[in-house]
Amino acid sequence: MEHEIKKICCIGAGYVGGPTMAVIANKCTDIEINVVDINKDKIALWNSNDLSKLPVFEPGLKDIISKRRGINLFFSTLVEEKIAEADMIFLSVNTPTKIQGIGAGKAQDLKWIEASAREVAKFAKGTTIVVEKSTLPVKTAESIKKILDSSETNQDKIFHVISNPEFLAEGTAIADLENPDRILIGGESSDAIESLAQIYLNWVDSKKIIRTNLWSSELSKLTANAFLAQRISSINSISALCEATGANIHEVSLAIGMDKRIGSKFLNPGPGFGGSCFQKDILNLIYLCNFYNLNEVADYWEQVIKINSWQQKRITKIIVEKLFGTLTNKKIGIFGFSFKANTNDTRESPSIHICKDLIEEGAKLLIYDPKVSKEQIDYEFRSLVKNESKASGCWELKSSPYEASENSDAIVVMTEWKEFKNIDWHIISSNMRRPSWVFDTRNIVDKEFAIKSGLNFWEVGS
Ligand code: UDX
Ligand code: UDX
Repeated sequence: MEHEIKKICCIGAGYVGGPTMAVIANKCTDIEINVVDINKDKIALWNSNDLSKLPVFEPGLKDIISKRRGINLFFSTLVEEKIAEADMIFLSVNTPTKIQGIGAGKAQDLKWIEASAREVAKFAKGTTIVVEKSTLPVKTAESIKKILDSSETNQDKIFHVISNPEFLAEGTAIADLENPDRILIGGESSDAIESLAQIYLNWVDSKKIIRTNLWSSELSKLTANAFLAQRISSINSISALCEATGANIHEVSLAIGMDKRIGSKFLNPGPGFGGSCFQKDILNLIYLCNFYNLNEVADYWEQVIKINSWQQKRITKIIVEKLFGTLTNKKIGIFGFSFKANTNDTRESPSIHICKDLIEEGAKLLIYDPKVSKEQIDYEFRSLVKNESKASGCWELKSSPYEASENSDAIVVMTEWKEFKNIDWHIISSNMRRPSWVFDTRNIVDKEFAIKSGLNFWEVGS
């Protein structure tokens, strides 16, 4: 018989744990949900009275937090206590790509997953269902289970490990959680699977709940992200061919997308994909293929990442060329730093790489993003730009696109924030030095308006 869930503990109050638990709390008001995190500052922000300070920006999130927080949704650092009380524990800790040791640059670093599993082994009581929410390499559930079962303190404890990958996209997380395309639950214990399925059945149609074995579930997440990323690299590769031949990527995208077998989504060209998942998951897939001696398969997926970096380098090169081959002492306005619109997340943002290359070419950047803080940009540059002091002197955060255009030679639109669609290009143009350029990497600018305002214009794929 399935285990009735009254208390949930989620370890990790990040971009996945926070919104996911908020939606479950909102849909299942009789379940108490405790989101715990080792980061005190982050928890303080989740508990802040000023909801604009929440550590994750997602449309719709503030409303749910104000409705459920302190009622059946709690944020704390009480990791041990909340693990001990829980019937079900979600692991939503981050799993970055390893930077050193075996598999560096490809394999995922599982140190936080392992540490969390050890905490669960130590503090859980009775029967506990452990749900993998983090994106993990295939067969991680097996390792988690070994850790849980091996602790000497575990005689009276029973653990079931199930995989329930998260498919939410940032910027639309709440809508994706409330109306998912599918819910995937993988595991060996059908009772544990049903316990989790019961939670989702509060708002998700039963036909959308897929039950699989553990490894299919884990591999499906990596494969879904690899396929999505592959579409972006495919369209970006064709964008370059459009520029060379006089074809237009939007026309091509529309024409191929109307074929139902291809479909129209995820065919927007741009500065390459960013975000915490795509690159990491493909690297992980590559690592796995190499491990099983499937080297041709590994090479196939590696190409998706290579095209992504190539697209970014290609854009930087075009900017430098149009600005007479040098950026020394030139000011460039950067519109957008997050990896996509409607999020404050900057992980793997294409902006980071393009900005870094522009700085190394000698440019001074005036950056504007509606949601990203100065500290966050600083953090991203610190780890990338070779000469740190050089990096810090080479950019400023501005509080509007108009300020970010003052005395600049070029504007580079990096993120598709809605406000960039409605910019007054007359004002921007009058702020800039001549000849002035707009480089639209997202194809969202009102091109005619920009050109009429005396600006030179480049966009990806035409
Ligand atoms: C998630 C997934 O877990 C990851 O596998 C996926 O690829 C991207 O999305 P995300 O929620 O985006 O991660 O990560 P992040 O926003 O960094 O949040 C993780 C949180 O876990 C952090 O707040 C961190 O402090 C916390 N953490 C980490 C713990 O509480 N305990 C730990 O031992 C490690
Ligand atoms: C992705 C998956 O979509 C989600 O299912 C998974 O759970 C986590 O990874 P996310 O990274 O949050 O979500 O956002 P997504 O909308 O997939 O965008 C990823 C990147 O691709 C962004 O940089 C975005 O700008 C870019 N992109 C997306 C394009 O360049 N073109 C497109 O057509 C779509």
